[in-house]
Amino acid sequence: MNKITAAITCVNGYVPEDVLSNSDLEKLVDTNDEWIKSRTGINERRILKTPGLATSDMAVEAVNGLLKKRGITANDLDVIIFATVTGDMIFPSTACILADKIGAKNAWGFDLAAACSGFLFSLETGAKFIESGKYKNVLVVGADKMSTIIDYTDRNTCIIFGDGCGCVLLEPNTEGLGIIDTELHIDGQGRQYLHQKAGGSLKPPTHETIDAKEHYVFQDGKAVFKFAVRGMADVSASIMEKNNLTSDDVKWLVPHQANLRIIDATAERMGVGRDKVMINIDHFGNTTNGTLPLCLWEWENKLKKGDNLILSAFGGGFTWGAVYIKWAYDYKA
Ligand code: UT7
Repeated sequence: MNKITAAITCVNGYVPEDVLSNSDLEKLVDTNDEWIKSRTGINERRILKTPGLATSDMAVEAVNGLLKKRGITANDLDVIIFATVTGDMIFPSTACILADKIGAKNAWGFDLAAACSGFLFSLETGAKFIESGKYKNVLVVGADKMSTIIDYTDRNTCIIFGDGCGCVLLEPNTEGLGIIDTELHIDGQGRQYLHQKAGGSLKPPTHETIDAKEHYVFQDGKAVFKFAVRGMADVSASIMEKNNLTSDDVKWLVPHQANLRIIDATAERMGVGRDKVMINIDHFGNTTNGTLPLCLWEWENKLKKGDNLILSAFGGGFTWGAVYIKWAYDYKA
């Protein structure tokens, strides 16, 4: 029997309707459209404003659409892996909440926390479930409601992030398509540069932690930038080399959308032109776990069976990595 690989067989996404533009941010902090565009590549982001809606609610929209597109029901799902840093609650997992909301009665699942690399780490994890032969339908969701952990008086962070959700279905493939190789890394030394100080067991929430705004994202942007440029470019070049891929062999680079300058540096290192790079940072900003599946969703109709894709990301932790995928299907409207 041919080896089983895990292939993405369907993609979907959801972003909230409300737009937060650069000119909106000019009214909140001392910044300007020109600075944001030239330093990050971002024009606008989406924000989930409706009170009472959380990360799982964006996932419900995306996943219900995916199930319909693929022609299966929630009860066909075996495993749900939910990549997020803004789960609805500390516990239970957002995977549990999503399973309840979509009516997935036969699935088990869990949340996976790897900041901006969460979707890649989840793809690797989901692929192993499929490759084991035991599971047939593994749902991988990447979603964040970043607006809940962003300080809209801090110009260093509030210009970057947005809300959104993307999801993919992994199924077994015996044609040699799907997830071919992965290279993933963590380095906890990096936590000093990008973290949320309070709310966890180290510093449980108190009036003081709230007053000190310690429940928001802290980022030393310049330091993270330096590590991210090197980390994403190195790992992307490394996975190409290991798989004997030339830049001509790579059909698409699917990069994490943290900063257009990091994306360009990665593409340059791989020898890949802008025409082969999926970029949605201009209209969605950095949606953390959402960036990569949202790119796949927007580009799905351009992808062809057999296309070589390199997905790559860098994020808090530090976490970083690349995934090599041979795309498994031609798009049908
Ligand atoms: O997705 C997770 C991983 N995260 C990342 O990969 C993010 C990596 N970092 C970055 O993308 C960039 O570092 C930022 C976009 C966060 C900042 O860009 P930068 O080019 O590194 O700016 P900087 O922090 O070096 O600041 C340059 C100047 C400073 O002024 P002075 O000291 O030169 O006078 C800042 O105070 O720009 C100032 N500045 C701003 N000015 C207008 C910082 N933020 C803003 C702002 N508007 N929003």
